[in-house]
Amino acid sequence: MSEQNKPAVFKVTIDNITIDVAPGTTILNAARQIGGDVTPPAMCYYSKLEGSGGKCRTCLVEVAAGSTADPRPMPKLVASCRTGVMDGMIVKNITSDRVLDAREGVVEFLLLNHPLDCPICDQAGECHLQDLSYEHGNAGTRYEFTRRTFKKEDIGPFIQLHMTRCILCYRCVYVAGQLTNQRVHGVIDRGDHAAISTFISRAIDNDFSGNMIDVCPVGALTDKTFRFKNRVWFTKPVDAHRNCDNPQCCGKATLWMRGDEVYRVTVRKDPFGEVQSYDGKPGWICNTCRFDKKQARDWVVEGLTTISRHSVIGANKYKILEQPKETIEQVMDGRKPKLLMDIHSISEVNKPGIELSELSRPAHSTDFKKADE
Ligand code: SF4
Ligand code: FES
Repeated sequence: MSEQNKPAVFKVTIDNITIDVAPGTTILNAARQIGGDVTPPAMCYYSKLEGSGGKCRTCLVEVAAGSTADPRPMPKLVASCRTGVMDGMIVKNITSDRVLDAREGVVEFLLLNHPLDCPICDQAGECHLQDLSYEHGNAGTRYEFTRRTFKKEDIGPFIQLHMTRCILCYRCVYVAGQLTNQRVHGVIDRGDHAAISTFISRAIDNDFSGNMIDVCPVGALTDKTFRFKNRVWFTKPVDAHRNCDNPQCCGKATLWMRGDEVYRVTVRKDPFGEVQSYDGKPGWICNTCRFDKKQARDWVVEGLTTISRHSVIGANKYKILEQPKETIEQVMDGRKPKLLMDIHSISEVNKPGIELSELSRPAHSTDFKKADE
């Protein structure tokens, strides 16, 4: 077909839903336009990072018909983040048993070396691998060998790398390459030895390095100023903005609050877990907004962040607290009613004189009050 005879839009059918998309759109992005369960999961693709995708294989789909011109099916499953749509293409995602089976296998591979330490991992509750294994994984593992482990590494003043949890998606490498003016880390070695590391232990301290924490789909890169201070589902996320002097910083963030304290500042995320765009540009934030502005008065709060109703983060926050009619102590075996109060509005889990949100280090057990204090 000559260039001028090509249709201006391509019709693509994914899981029996037909949609018109612009030529050049990938299957994954076409599925995102439909939304819901039709959208394949994506652990390495990140639409705002050039070159991302094609590493993890979680987005595999079946192409049941290549195009109107050539309706033959593609023999192998394809990575939807890297395959462009054709006019008349028919794609199967959750309607294909082959895809569901392959995805189960991909989850098993991703979990070969990934520790099952969700109860102590700071990413729990917002980890894409946790969601993926819940939705597509198996209950058990067949792996019998010793898992690959690494020592935790402090890369720079604000970020801790726990390589044992890394799934080598490369997103953080793209953030460093495309957002900061000096990339000092990357994937070193190949195959089973591949690891994220800083070159000759150089620290990451450039202005936008904190965004690597937000793009990491697992708990491999965590915010040292937030580590072990709270579970994310105990905090209340609110949208807020400030006038930042850094021209590249969008100044729009999500504050993760408990009571009046700001425990963590992150970029605002869209329904696919990616940074939201403003005026056509991704809304990355600078390290000053992220790590230094931890007082509610530093920000203009706009209101509660909209959280997916399927997320554990939204649990119990958006309805009026229902208290039992009986005397609280009576139904709680004599325990104090504080346990039944709305925990999201209580900030004093810390010892008097210790402000958890202001500690620049991870919290330790000695920073918290004991149950009987
Ligand atoms: S540290 Fe996180 S973002 Fe970087 S490659 Fe590993 S999993 Fe991906
Ligand atoms: S999201 Fe497509 S290969 Fe990872």
